[in-house]
Amino acid sequence: MSSIQAIILAAGRSRRFNTATSKLRSTLCGQEMVLYPLQACEQLAIPQVCVIGHQREEIKQLIQDRGFRSATFVEQLSQKGTGHALVCTQPVWCGETLLVMNGDMPLITKTLLQELIAHHAKQQAAVTFATALAPDGGAYGRVVTSPHGYAIIEARDCTEQQLRESHINAGIYLFQRSFLDAHLHQLAPHDSGEYYITDLIALATNNNLRVSTYCVPFDLVRGVNTLEEHAQAESIKRKQIISYWMNHGVQFMLPETVHVDGSVSIGAETSIGAGVIITNDSHIGAGCTIESYSIIQDSTIHDHVTVKSHSVISESEIHQQAVVGPYAHIRNKSTINAHAVVGNFVEVNKTTLGQHSKAKHLTYLGMATIGTHTNIGAGTITCNYDGFAKHDTVIQDNVFIGSNSALIAPVTIGNEAMVAAGSIITENVPSQGFAIARERQVTKLNYAPKLREKLQKPTQSFTAAHKADESSDNA
Ligand code: UD1
Ligand code: CA
Repeated sequence: MSSIQAIILAAGRSRRFNTATSKLRSTLCGQEMVLYPLQACEQLAIPQVCVIGHQREEIKQLIQDRGFRSATFVEQLSQKGTGHALVCTQPVWCGETLLVMNGDMPLITKTLLQELIAHHAKQQAAVTFATALAPDGGAYGRVVTSPHGYAIIEARDCTEQQLRESHINAGIYLFQRSFLDAHLHQLAPHDSGEYYITDLIALATNNNLRVSTYCVPFDLVRGVNTLEEHAQAESIKRKQIISYWMNHGVQFMLPETVHVDGSVSIGAETSIGAGVIITNDSHIGAGCTIESYSIIQDSTIHDHVTVKSHSVISESEIHQQAVVGPYAHIRNKSTINAHAVVGNFVEVNKTTLGQHSKAKHLTYLGMATIGTHTNIGAGTITCNYDGFAKHDTVIQDNVFIGSNSALIAPVTIGNEAMVAAGSIITENVPSQGFAIARERQVTKLNYAPKLREKLQKPTQSFTAAHKADESSDNA
């Protein structure tokens, strides 16, 4: 095969998307749209030239940040159509064959490109382009055949019959560079002032050059112009990702309700409940249970972890056999070590919970380092913020923190120490120490019946009755 160079058209204004940000920067299953065609080319080791214009700095930055170091850029300063975008790249052509494709086709695969390239080579055509049969071709250009060859007519210029009966133009073209060198300058603007790349097909036909078409599945070449088309394309990609994991031993309860980004990995024997969302670079181990409506972002979950329903885990790591949730919130670089338990309504922020330690109910653990085999009672709060600065809490191994305790940071609770329930701890507790910091209890013997009698008097409120009683007691 002769040397090949890819040109990705990514300069357009995304008008039909109706968002301030270019559609090419919008994500599908966690990856920005413009990166998909670049990725398919990269997988085939085809060098890429990206035509940028609208939001060019942002798009260029994005492509570079995502590691497409070999991509080069050409600027199209005014968006005068797909044909003009191609004209802008002429000074940087170096391949004998140019693979030109729209930047808004995120379902494209390297296999499809491979097939198309092989077909083009076999046909020895001046131009090859991909076509598809679409149930409803909508605004796609239509491929019109004549005894001499082909033309592509944009939908708005088609007859009813052409709209109904024709294949659509997918937006991927292979050109012999010699054809473009000879004929690209013949492209003429339409009434709108735009130059259409699609007019090159009729130009080749009219010059008696060989044009070949290659019919591909519509779902792989869907273009995304509107947010509705974006949702349709993402839904297809999501299904592909989930079916990939199903084929690798992952069980999904209600797969049509689950979202998994393309960069996520999931181990075999893991089961995923309804409505689960797993995004960014999250890695889920083998044999895990992720129950319904949990959200896992940018986190690593090791093997045999249970995440009970409605838990949110972000930028954190959960080690094997740990149990989290239901309704747990673990965030901001927290680590839950092996066999630890984080129960319902527990928020864990920038905290490490040691092996076999437990915080099972209604707790806030922020900026804390907690050792192993420690029990954090229900309602414990690490008070890490004094209104100006944030401070650390250290709770060492085998500690018992009684329920409803407030630990005012910075503070350290030593190994095997105990804190009585309801304590407000402001000072360090040494190893094996016991701290109790609460009001002493007052118990009045046989007082309950008296209080009841007073409370039953209709005119007296509880406070009044209690006060009257206190004063009679003191007397
Ligand atoms: C284009 C085709 C249509 C085809 C469809 C497939 C033309 C004239 N029409 O229509 O036949 O069925 O794709 O999806 O090509 N772009 C630039 N510079 C510009 C204009 C556009 O770089 O001046 C880029 C866009 O960013 C986009 C791509 O070219 O990535 C295609 O442009 P778009 O406006 O989406 O073309 P369609 O109307 O979809
Ligand atoms: Ca398009």
